[in-house]
Amino acid sequence: MYRTHTCGELRAADINTEVTLAGWVGKVRNLGAMAFIDLRDRYGVTQLAVNENSPAAVREIVDTLGREFVIRATGTVVERSAKNPKMATGEIEIALTELKVLSRADTPPFTIEENSDGGDDLRMKYRYLDLRRGPLQRNMMLRHRMAQSARGFLDREGFLEIETPFLISSTPEGARDFVVPSRMSAGQFYALPQSPQTFKQLLMVAGYDRYFQIVRCFRDEDLRADRQPEFTQIDCEMSFVDQEDVLETFERMARFMFSETIGVEFGTEPFRRMSWAEAMARYGNDKPDLRFGMEINELTAQAKGHGFGVFDDAEYIGGIVATGCAGFTRKQIDELTEYVKRPQIGAKGLVWIRLDEGGEIKSSVDKFYTPEVLREWAVAMGAQNGDLIFVVSGERRRSLTVLSELRLELGSRLGLRDKSRFAPLWVVDFPLLEWDDETARFYAMHHPFTSPKPEDIPLLESDPGAVRANAYDFVVNGVEVGGGSIRIFEPDLQARMFELLGFTPESAQEQFGFLMNAFRFGAPPHGGIAFGFDRFCSLFGGADSIRDYIAFPKNNSGRDVMIDAPSSIAPEQLEELNLRIVRPE
Ligand code: AMO
Repeated sequence: MYRTHTCGELRAADINTEVTLAGWVGKVRNLGAMAFIDLRDRYGVTQLAVNENSPAAVREIVDTLGREFVIRATGTVVERSAKNPKMATGEIEIALTELKVLSRADTPPFTIEENSDGGDDLRMKYRYLDLRRGPLQRNMMLRHRMAQSARGFLDREGFLEIETPFLISSTPEGARDFVVPSRMSAGQFYALPQSPQTFKQLLMVAGYDRYFQIVRCFRDEDLRADRQPEFTQIDCEMSFVDQEDVLETFERMARFMFSETIGVEFGTEPFRRMSWAEAMARYGNDKPDLRFGMEINELTAQAKGHGFGVFDDAEYIGGIVATGCAGFTRKQIDELTEYVKRPQIGAKGLVWIRLDEGGEIKSSVDKFYTPEVLREWAVAMGAQNGDLIFVVSGERRRSLTVLSELRLELGSRLGLRDKSRFAPLWVVDFPLLEWDDETARFYAMHHPFTSPKPEDIPLLESDPGAVRANAYDFVVNGVEVGGGSIRIFEPDLQARMFELLGFTPESAQEQFGFLMNAFRFGAPPHGGIAFGFDRFCSLFGGADSIRDYIAFPKNNSGRDVMIDAPSSIAPEQLEELNLRIVRPE
């Protein structure tokens, strides 16, 4: 028998029991006559003890133990003389009577402890060692509990878990596809799904009524902390529902998961809802972090026409109030200015207005505006003495982005983005279409199957850009955790959508013929949502990066450095697939 108990299990009540444990050697403290070994498994750490009364064979083996050896230890549970209240097993230790090395270990390239000394690259290369560490094990357990809680909820609500294929052709989600060459159909490729979108709609046509799947999705896009090339969705679809039904169901699911896995309750008030237009105007962002205020105030009307060229020529002028920040030094203001001038954000500069505690107003635009005018702006923005105002001007969309980034940065610096607080929000009424100047055409903001709001359908002919969609995002603390929509189920409307998106009837038929044909055979009204499961996990765990919630993630260049993928394939494999590699110069 390898073990009678785990390393996290034994307590004072077990004293005098004979036990056998198995696990990995953590620290060994050899004090001559006595030695202590930390034995670790995923359930915890138990201290093993040897002293002058221990069998000689055991003491000999202890002298040979190294970090991360796998051992089996038998002994008696005894009370510790020096108890450790920080350890679950801290009241006891095992007085060893038998010890066996099951597996030796090379010295690991970094320490397997709560805070490892290994750098990112090293830990990714030896991911299986990193995964031995407490923080990652807790992350994997959280992920497991969240998956179980979502599954349980959806099962009880009558959702069927149905798998959909990975080898498909392109899905129109808007990112680049990963493709897989076909051996049997020479010169042709499968694409890996960016999401099961079209399949879940076909399952509705097939009468399955409620579907879900915890499913891998593949997108070849630029990576960030919250993006991986393969990631997991909790993907859901329902028939005979309108937007309200979908939001109600998945708000309950989110509440259930929060409560069951991390004990967070939200009371009886429904989650907040905000239209996309309102989110953009008040927070400059379609996924606002509502843990703090500092909303954006537009000043275009007040600030124009005072002879300050930068403002007079601007399409948009707006600002935010940094509450209680009048004491900011010039250096702090300069740092923030540099922050928003970074190319990713693209501000030209920041105008500041300081409202001293004593009531005096100073600003970086004193030459152009009298204190009375600045006071009027301050009042309009709800600012008080002791506050600092930042104002940004320029093209509307860009200025809102700058203000949004500035707001988030200030929120972080002022400690207003506490990770143990959660501010959930539904963003609704997204625009259906997005105009792209470069290609001079509309793109679907969500995807081409998203239904317009019925009252906006006439606008499809006169002003397509103004049409709102029955689409929604679930946002928590500034993270887009999920998104979905009510779908088009009428073939004529779907055909009109494809036309607006620049498809000819032939090209639409070629790409989406299977779906449009299916809709001719009796499609129920339907809609759904997909949660980004990795993001959900990192949110619950209070982390910024989703990587630590994925057992084997890719690095920022999309590589798995542990197995060294992607990699070349053998010439025979290429031959078989009818592929020839043309190396870029
Ligand atoms: P969408 O593209 O919004 O919708 O994706 C749903 C959610 O998936 C997460 N997500 C990602 N997570 C990690 N890495 C990525 N690269 C990544 N891309 C997206 C986000 C996002 O909210 N088929 C539709 C859903 C529907 O309409 O039902 C879809 O895939 O959290």
